[in-house]
Amino acid sequence: MAGIYIHIPFCKKKCYYCDFYSVVSTKDRELVISSIIKELSLRKNYLANENINTIYFGGGTPSVLTENELSEILNSVYNNYNIENNAEITFEANPDDLSNEYLQILKQNKINRLSIGVQSFFDNDLQLMNRSHNATTAEESIKRSIKVGFTNFSIDLIYGLPNLSIENWRKNIDKAISLNPTHISAYHITYEPNTVFYKFLKDKKISEIPDSESIEQFKILINETKKANFEHYEISNFAKPNYISKHNSNYWKQQKYIGIGPSAHSFNLKSRQWNYPSNKKYTEGIINNQQYFDKETLSSADKYNEYILTSIRTYWGIDANYISENFGNKYLFNFEKNIQKYVNNGFVKLSKNIFTLTNSGLFISDKIATDLFFYDKNI
Ligand SMILES: C[S@@+](CC[C@H](N)C(=O)[O-])C[C@H]1O[C@@H](n2cnc3c(N)ncnc32)[C@H](O)[C@@H]1O
Ligand code: SF4
Repeated sequence: MAGIYIHIPFCKKKCYYCDFYSVVSTKDRELVISSIIKELSLRKNYLANENINTIYFGGGTPSVLTENELSEILNSVYNNYNIENNAEITFEANPDDLSNEYLQILKQNKINRLSIGVQSFFDNDLQLMNRSHNATTAEESIKRSIKVGFTNFSIDLIYGLPNLSIENWRKNIDKAISLNPTHISAYHITYEPNTVFYKFLKDKKISEIPDSESIEQFKILINETKKANFEHYEISNFAKPNYISKHNSNYWKQQKYIGIGPSAHSFNLKSRQWNYPSNKKYTEGIINNQQYFDKETLSSADKYNEYILTSIRTYWGIDANYISENFGNKYLFNFEKNIQKYVNNGFVKLSKNIFTLTNSGLFISDKIATDLFFYDKNI
C-alpha cells in the first residue's frame, strides 16, 4: 500500500503564518501543471508497481485548479499508477473556492474526501492571519459541501493564536463539531522564520500566548473531541470511527509515498527525496530532463529515528518487537534504556510491548522522541 501526494504551489493570498511553498503569482501556472503531469509519468516506477490506496492534493491551494487542470492531472495518475478501487482521494480546499459548481467538478472527478482550511470561525482571527475567507463563508462552504454529497470531510483549525481566548477556542471546536465533520486537524500556531507573523512577533505587533494557555487549549481540544466520539489518533488529528485519514496514516506507519510537484517529499523505505521548492528550478529540471530534487539515503539510525518520531505521535505507538525485528538489539537496548523513565513518570504507558503516550506525555512528545533517538556516535 502506498500513497501519491500532489503539491499545487499557488495561493490567492499568502497567509501570514504559512511557510509551505506557494506563490501568489500565476505566471508559471501552465508550466507547473504540465511539469506535474510529466513528473507523474517520469516517476511511474518509483513505487515499484505498489497498489495506491490514497491520493492527496495538497498545497498551496489545490482549489485554484480548473476543471481541465484537475482532470488532466488525474488522468496522468490513473494512466501511470495502480489505483485501488476504494482509494481515498483527498483534496485540500479553501472555503472561498467551494462554490456549488466547483464542488460538482470535484465530485465528477471522483474526489471523495475534502480537507477544508477553516482555521477559525472568528473574523478577527481570519483577518489577523490574512486568510481569503470570512467566518460566514467557512460555515456556508461546509454546508454546501455536505449538500453536494461530501459527507467525508476534515476541518483544519489553528489554536494558540495571538488574542484567541480560551472561550473562543472552545466555541471554534464546538462549531466545527456541530457541522458534522468525519475528521478534525488542529495545529498549534508555529512562528516560522520568513513569515509575516514571525516579523510581527519580532516587532512586537503580536505576542505569543503563555504556555499555560496553549496547554489549556490543547486540553479543551482533546476533551471536546472525545465527548463528540472522535478518536485522537495523532497529536493534531482526530477522526470519527473508520474515518482515520489513510493518507496521513501512511506517513506515520512507514509506508511508501511519492510526492509530485515543487517542494513535495517522497519516501520509499530506503531514501527520502524532496523536489526543489521553486517553480522555476523545478519546471526547468523536469522539462530539460535535469536534476529537480535533492535526495538522502537513509542510514539505519535515520530509519530508526524516523520510526520513533512518527510512531510516538500516534495512538498505535512504538512497537518494541518492530524495533528488534527491523533494527536489531543495539537499537532495542537504546530504546528500552531511554523510555524507562517516561514510563516510570507516567508520560508513557506500556501494553503488550507497545509504548504509547499518556495524556500528560502528549504535551512533551518532541522531547521524549529526541531522548529516544539513536545517535551515530552510539554505534
Ligand atoms: C499549508 S495549508 C494547505 C491547505 C490550504 N491552502 C489551507 O490553507 O487550508 C495546510 C494546513 O497547514 C496548517 N498550517 C500551515 N502553517 C501553519 C503554521 N505556521 N502553524 C500552524 N498550522 C499551520 C493550516 O492549518 C493549514 O490548514
Ligand atoms: S495556509 Fe494555505 S492558503 Fe494560506 S498561504 Fe499556506 S497554503 Fe496558501
